[in-house]
Amino acid sequence: MSVNSRLPGFRDESPSARRALLAERSGRTLDEFRALDPFEGLTAEQADHMIENVVGVLGVPLGVATNFTVNGDDVLVPMATEEPSVVAAASNAARIARVRGGFRTSSSRPVIQAQVQILDVADPEGARLRLLDARDELMRTADEQDPQLVELGGGVRDLSVRVVESRAGRYVVLHLLVDVRDAMGANAVNSMAEAVAVRVGEIARGRVLLRILTNKADTRLARASAVFDAETLGGADVVRDIVHAGALAEADPYRAATHNKGIMNGITAVVLATGNDTRAVEAGAHSHAVGADGRYTSLSRFETDTDGNLVGTLELPMPVGLVGGATKVHPAARSAVSLLGAGTAQQLAEVITAVGLAQNLAALRALATEGIQRGHMALHARNVAVAAGATTDELPHVVSRLVADRAVRADHADQVLAELRSGQ
Ligand code: MEV
Repeated sequence: MSVNSRLPGFRDESPSARRALLAERSGRTLDEFRALDPFEGLTAEQADHMIENVVGVLGVPLGVATNFTVNGDDVLVPMATEEPSVVAAASNAARIARVRGGFRTSSSRPVIQAQVQILDVADPEGARLRLLDARDELMRTADEQDPQLVELGGGVRDLSVRVVESRAGRYVVLHLLVDVRDAMGANAVNSMAEAVAVRVGEIARGRVLLRILTNKADTRLARASAVFDAETLGGADVVRDIVHAGALAEADPYRAATHNKGIMNGITAVVLATGNDTRAVEAGAHSHAVGADGRYTSLSRFETDTDGNLVGTLELPMPVGLVGGATKVHPAARSAVSLLGAGTAQQLAEVITAVGLAQNLAALRALATEGIQRGHMALHARNVAVAAGATTDELPHVVSRLVADRAVRADHADQVLAELRSGQ
């Protein structure tokens, strides 16, 4: 069943009514989303099997971004984040992208790399060629570690060898390039790197040290682009200023770090919701933000098309999987994956990248127009009011007062609540 991601009025419903709506819209049973109810989600017993010394579980709000169209299909996107306005901003940007067809995405094959570091090699260049000469043997040994992956069409695709100069010496570094299919793949490639290590040391005539994947996953890239309609964005001046905002991030690392943080607001939220490794994706993103010239820059680009509309593009490593790890064992992550409906890790990676671009556009549009604080403060005011003890009935009054008084602060929330309760 195809999904319609337009859900007007969704935000006015209660969390349980929203889950019922999701079930209806996505053609899934309500049971599939039961684990999103905090009382039905991850138990301490389940958590105890996931990590060590478990004493409990930490709840993080899980919202659903609406309005997304990716490659012509609507998707409802689960996002786990503690930051107010992230889900609303992504949904809003997706609504703007929708006017001109939504997001287009693509990705490379799900190939990640493992490194084997070799020390004390007398002839590094000679060792490099000996290792390349042993390519077939080493690839066979690595593939033998994971016959199931090979059966699924994955496995080692190639190897490469680099000579790396460091302050402590010169290293020969062998890379295994592995198609990990629908896995994130860290376990698969780490096992392969360990399996070939002894033979690699023999061939290179050196001592093997590190055997581990690289999180600079530049052979596993996902890309998203969208045309944002100039009129819907607010006119030609807004388009012009978003291009200027993007250009500053390209040129200035101080701005690039914040710009990229905005992209990661969206990306990390979906990665976390689907039980994937947020740190692996973040490490990949930040390493990718350093260009060939060694300068840290923005991950996205903004330009105008011939009709004056804004064209946004984003490309970055996206090492996420659908099998294994928390994606399979965390009940809420399973619900989130089911909602997204991604059939392959590549599809998941592409949707996540589209969300990153949407999040980026939303931030730049706010910054280039009214500034970020207005929208942010309304949502922040809710947190402040709740922290001050406002009940569900009191919340709307306290929030609107905090915003109207331009004083979104705990002391003011206390005062407004006291006034409300004393009938003033
Ligand atoms: C805040 O979490 C993210 C932003 O700072 C991103 C940006 O400045 O582009 C608003």
